[in-house]
Amino acid sequence: MAQKTFPHACVAADHALASAIGASVLREGGNAVDAAVATSFALSVCRPYSCGIGGGGFMVIAMPPGARTRSGLLREHLRTTIDYRETAPRALTRTFFEGNPDPDAPTHGGASVGVPGHVAGMLHALDRFGTMSLGRVIQPAIDLARQGFAADDHYAKNSQEVIEWLSGTPIDAIPHGHAARRPRVDRFEYTWRRYVHAGAVAPGTPVDNHEQARVLELVRDRGRAGFYEGPVARAIVESVRADGGVLDLADLAGFVPVERAPLVGRCAGMKSLSMAPPSSGGIVLAQVLMMLERRGDLLSRAKAAGHNSPEYLHLVCEAMKHAFADRARWLGDTDFVDVPLAELMSAARIARAADTIRADGVIRTADAGVLPPPEDHGTSHLCVVDEAGGAVACTETINLIFGSLLVPSDDAGPLGFCLNNTLDDFVTRPGVPNAFGLSHARRNAPDPGKRPLSSMTPTILLSRDGERPAVLAGASGGPRIISATIQSILNMVAFDMDAVAAVAAPRAHHQWDPDTLQLEDALFASPVAERLRSLGHTVTRREPIGNAQVIRAAALADASGGWLPASDPRKGGAPDGH
Ligand code: GLY
Repeated sequence: MAQKTFPHACVAADHALASAIGASVLREGGNAVDAAVATSFALSVCRPYSCGIGGGGFMVIAMPPGARTRSGLLREHLRTTIDYRETAPRALTRTFFEGNPDPDAPTHGGASVGVPGHVAGMLHALDRFGTMSLGRVIQPAIDLARQGFAADDHYAKNSQEVIEWLSGTPIDAIPHGHAARRPRVDRFEYTWRRYVHAGAVAPGTPVDNHEQARVLELVRDRGRAGFYEGPVARAIVESVRADGGVLDLADLAGFVPVERAPLVGRCAGMKSLSMAPPSSGGIVLAQVLMMLERRGDLLSRAKAAGHNSPEYLHLVCEAMKHAFADRARWLGDTDFVDVPLAELMSAARIARAADTIRADGVIRTADAGVLPPPEDHGTSHLCVVDEAGGAVACTETINLIFGSLLVPSDDAGPLGFCLNNTLDDFVTRPGVPNAFGLSHARRNAPDPGKRPLSSMTPTILLSRDGERPAVLAGASGGPRIISATIQSILNMVAFDMDAVAAVAAPRAHHQWDPDTLQLEDALFASPVAERLRSLGHTVTRREPIGNAQVIRAAALADASGGWLPASDPRKGGAPDGH
């Protein structure tokens, strides 16, 4: 794909229709937050298995002085984040899942559903930092839901795992369009019948969602109350409780998005702004980038050996091992547990970890027989820059593909959105890794009102002159979100790639536990894999390693020269702008 440059403003989402909706808001003079909210509601419709109104997310915002928001022109830099991560219901106890005999309870159905934060987060962002009306930014998503769109390759491919699970039939054995109805099909009837067309969804299949349009219209007309009170709230509660969950009306009414200070790190002389806990992404990213800055000696040699050389991938993965080990041991929701953030980010600790990295051997980690992470999942990342230099990096999720698979219904029928299964991001059963093969300490155990640890890594790097957003990045793909974001950023700032090349380049992943270095096909099939084995790594194949969206300024030094966006070819999105 050729690199386009947009002189003024652009959006990079993981679906072209969503980018186009965000770009139309920018062309009309909306700011980056207006466009991000419009793009996000559109993604709820056209990436219904990745994110949406049944889920939650994180938004990182950076706006320069002079930028316009609802409350006037900014006098100084605005740098903030909004946490609208799904939250444990009040009745969710620490032992809730341990006592549940259904092995799928943390990942499917009512028990797995956290209080959705998406709608509250969008309205908070728009109200505090946007300029446009809710009606203007949500209407394109309503129109898209009513008109429908064609399923793309990614939609069809990601539906397959769900089709197999729902039908209980290996996918090759399902006669096209005539799969037998099994008990799970009845339980998750809307997902089966409407989202995956009873097993027959294929690239080009028309998908409409007039049911979700009805909910979006209620939000347009009644604001927050359209979702968190009234018929939609009652339908969510009744559907979740009838399917083994504990969420109630007070949980919905009580959901609050939280503004948090960005986590500040450094990379190649640039300041990075990312998410603090309950995201782990910001801290893992900052630790890795700071370890690489500390080991400038190894990074220079690795760069001289070439992009994606064994020397380079080894260095990045060794740093990731350290950071993912800290993730597993230390991180949790800071509103509930003490996380030693200052210590984890301290120069002394970063140096101690970085200095154990050797060019000629691996840091050994204990073998742990954990499940490998599944192939690809929910979650969606979008980036927006506006004409005034305002920037939004936003990652959202319903967790696994089609979330909990549960679609709430009221008397008028199903509401056309999947509720998340984000409670699986907690330690649901001690010693048992989650669906991504991630192990966590008890500090990430569920408690009423707590938010589970996340890997979402929306990130903004400021220009080398220290002021303006110059690089925006983030990804989907479970823990591989973090490695995809790190490598996309390094490709731009350490190897000066354009955005398209930076996201297209093959990637590696290491999450400390299990102790395996994963490579995408292009690297796995190359001599790089053999050289990494000879250094002591256990190398496995993994395709894809995340799906990243990025935007970079043509000139990183002062964020000038126009914007270069890219949507990951692995997910098939496309950016748009003017
Ligand atoms: N559910 C994916 C994440 O938040 O890490």
